[in-house]
Amino acid sequence: MTGTATYAETAETNSQADQGESQSAPDSELRARYIDLLRETLTMSLWNAADGNQMEAMFPAHGAALREDGRDWPKLAHTMTGVKRMKNLQFCVEDVIARGVPGDFIETGVWRGGSCIFMRGILAAYGERDRKVWVADSFEGLPPPDAEKYPVDAAGIAFHLYPQLAIPMEEVQANFRSYGLLDDQVVMLKGFFKDTLPHAEIDKLAVLRLDGDMYESTMDALTNLYSKLSDGGYLIVDDYAIPACSEAINDFREAYGITDPMEVIDWTGVYWQKGSAKKRALEPDSGDSETALTDRYTKLFMDHERIAQENRLHALTISRLQAQNLATANELAAVRSSRSLRYVAKVRGSLASANRIKSRLIRKNQP
Ligand SMILES: C[S@@+](CC[C@H](N)C(=O)[O-])C[C@H]1O[C@@H](n2cnc3c(N)ncnc32)[C@H](O)[C@@H]1O
Repeated sequence: MTGTATYAETAETNSQADQGESQSAPDSELRARYIDLLRETLTMSLWNAADGNQMEAMFPAHGAALREDGRDWPKLAHTMTGVKRMKNLQFCVEDVIARGVPGDFIETGVWRGGSCIFMRGILAAYGERDRKVWVADSFEGLPPPDAEKYPVDAAGIAFHLYPQLAIPMEEVQANFRSYGLLDDQVVMLKGFFKDTLPHAEIDKLAVLRLDGDMYESTMDALTNLYSKLSDGGYLIVDDYAIPACSEAINDFREAYGITDPMEVIDWTGVYWQKGSAKKRALEPDSGDSETALTDRYTKLFMDHERIAQENRLHALTISRLQAQNLATANELAAVRSSRSLRYVAKVRGSLASANRIKSRLIRKNQP
């Protein structure tokens, strides 16, 4: 279960499903094409990420590679979630629809709304009228860290200072509208999670996607929503690479004894299926067999190696950039100081010639 199916894989799965539903093959092919097109549009991959990155100084690599991994803050794309994580979202949403897992979908932390638009689009593609997409955000950016309650937030990146992360609700709604996907199946939950989520009229969830970056935001979403996630539904974490987020996830899993195996999506995304540990234990010759455990260990080990390698390359790029910045700063300082030395010399020169003129005049005027 990779959670990152391609068009061809999706089309094949759909056509298998359609045989049972007596739906015509072209319909499922069109549906798969629509979903792929929607994903490619929302991520700007269709334009090879030509809109560029708002954080060029931090991530100078080529846009398309960054978009695939979702390491950037794109200038125009409607989601900063990368292609791999969008494919995982697609997998989770299509899987719960196929298995009839009851419940709505929610993302906590939506930015321009792209991942939620994607979920709404997939519901439309499958003609699902009974599920809602909950769109939870302050629409004003992240809260300032509460250093007393969550010291790990205060020690991390000050995300609340970035105006790029504060997208007004009207803009998000306009984005939904531009895809023809703003309707009564979309519910906006405006405000900080700690204020909105405890009172949200959500009955059941089938997909719970967390993208709030901080310990507080991750924990508020988990404590208020995880109990509403149906068995067989998916919990997706966008920010596991952020220490504050992974700490919240690990604390929550430990506190509630959650042992459902976490699957790796990419360098920062992880997800798990609620109740999958129990299901595995009940299956004859399930994940407990030695071969299955060895396979799982090998896969995790390879995932770990790949991500570690990616992050090493990334760290190299950052340190190269830092070195370049330092060299430029030194050059600038040298230019400034040589300019001021020249200035001082010039002033001294002018002073000396003024003094010479003065003494000549004095000599001339002496009786
Ligand atoms: C990284 S962005 C989300 C990216 C988005 N999922 C996408 O597809 O592009 C983080 C978002 O979380 C929101 N956020 C983070 N913590 C929050 C909190 N405690 N309450 C409300 N919104 C929060 C921010 O306003 C921001 O829009």
